[in-house]
Amino acid sequence: MKVLVVGGGGREHALCWKISKSPLVTSLFCAPGNVGISKNATCVDIKVTDIESLVRFAKAEEIELTIVGPEVPLSLGIVDRFQEENLNIFGPNQAAAEIESSKAFSKNLMKKYDIPTAFFSTFDNYNDAVNWVKEVKPPLVIKADGLAAGKGVIICHTEDEALSILDDIMNSKIFGDSGNCVVIEEFLEGEEVSFIAFTDGENVIPLESSQDHKALLDGDEGPNTGGMGAYSPAPVLTPELHDIIMNKVMIPTVKAMKEEGREYKGILYAGLMIKESDIKVLEFNCRFGDPEAQPLLMRMRSDIIPLMRTISSGGVAEGEIQWYDEASVCVVMASKGYPGDYKKGFPIHRIDEVNSMDGIFVFHSGTARDDGNIVANGGRVLGVTALGHTIPDAMNAAYKAVGHIDNELLYYRTDIGKKSLKYI
Ligand code: AMP
Ligand code: GLY
Repeated sequence: MKVLVVGGGGREHALCWKISKSPLVTSLFCAPGNVGISKNATCVDIKVTDIESLVRFAKAEEIELTIVGPEVPLSLGIVDRFQEENLNIFGPNQAAAEIESSKAFSKNLMKKYDIPTAFFSTFDNYNDAVNWVKEVKPPLVIKADGLAAGKGVIICHTEDEALSILDDIMNSKIFGDSGNCVVIEEFLEGEEVSFIAFTDGENVIPLESSQDHKALLDGDEGPNTGGMGAYSPAPVLTPELHDIIMNKVMIPTVKAMKEEGREYKGILYAGLMIKESDIKVLEFNCRFGDPEAQPLLMRMRSDIIPLMRTISSGGVAEGEIQWYDEASVCVVMASKGYPGDYKKGFPIHRIDEVNSMDGIFVFHSGTARDDGNIVANGGRVLGVTALGHTIPDAMNAAYKAVGHIDNELLYYRTDIGKKSLKYI
């Protein structure tokens, strides 16, 4: 079958890498793709937001399945448009994608259906938000309602900080219209885990556990980013917690979406905070995590296409996904300065050499080709991902590979995977 992947980051490279191994796939396209993806798929120069051009391309090429990587086209209704044209597409429709594109919607859904989450209030009026901040004690968390590339959540340790952030978001509009409404919620302590599952609107088929590292600096310090690294499995997620999450979060959420007339089909990702046996949802995402997709897909033994094809064509999702026993660790190498301003266009060497190392794969996030060289072209540049018998083995292998690529314009955390060590 002919398959199109929409997106051009590390997650989409991991998807294309995995999909290209499927015996069911005869040709694979990716729009817009990137330099790394071009080794697994034919890249097509169409932006993820140019939905009409994507529809035209899918029709002209007789694409049998389109798979959407990022949240932005989902929130713009790419699935609705493809379905209007009778084109098969994997992902939630616009109404269902609101579980990610509006934090106010998802928090209110959780409240209504008793899905465990932090205590919160939503505000579209600045003065009301200010009054609430003055009433409750810090630390608290302020979240822009709409999409903000993983940067719209700010943890405030003092009242002054919270008031200044509210001013930035609601008056100065640092996140544009995404900040017309804010969610303010209690600060939760604990350890985070990413719980990602396939769903056909009713049945939930979970992936293995994984853990992201959202903060820029070692020890989870510094500002939040899109994600600086991830590993799988995450031993904080015991089999008991897995069952609690399925029964208290995943299945009830899918049911709730159906009851709300927003049947949810695709990947549902719950970002969770775990403190002993207490679990709370921090957020829902309507797609694979980036960088969680990189270690997860490296560990996935099953062909990913049959499940995606079944769900996109309205079938019943059944069975279990098979996994390799090895652990996997992905270290993100970013341009120095990210998530603020950073340089582009500097060359990156030895990627092919590292790719030839056993059990290593370098997923590209933000790269371009310039005069035969691979150069940095984004904030997050590479996701160096390794398999190992244990998480420490995979950490060692990933950091050895990172050491080969390292140069003075790249930055990476040195502690990806370290949080798992206390459970081993
Ligand atoms: P979100 O996009 O809502 O997942 O938030 C991004 C990150 O901010 C999360 O992965 C957490 O690290 C942090 N965060 C969000 N909400 C809270 C909260 N209520 N308490 C503590 N940390 C939070
Ligand atoms: N890794 C976090 C995200 O994809 O939102």
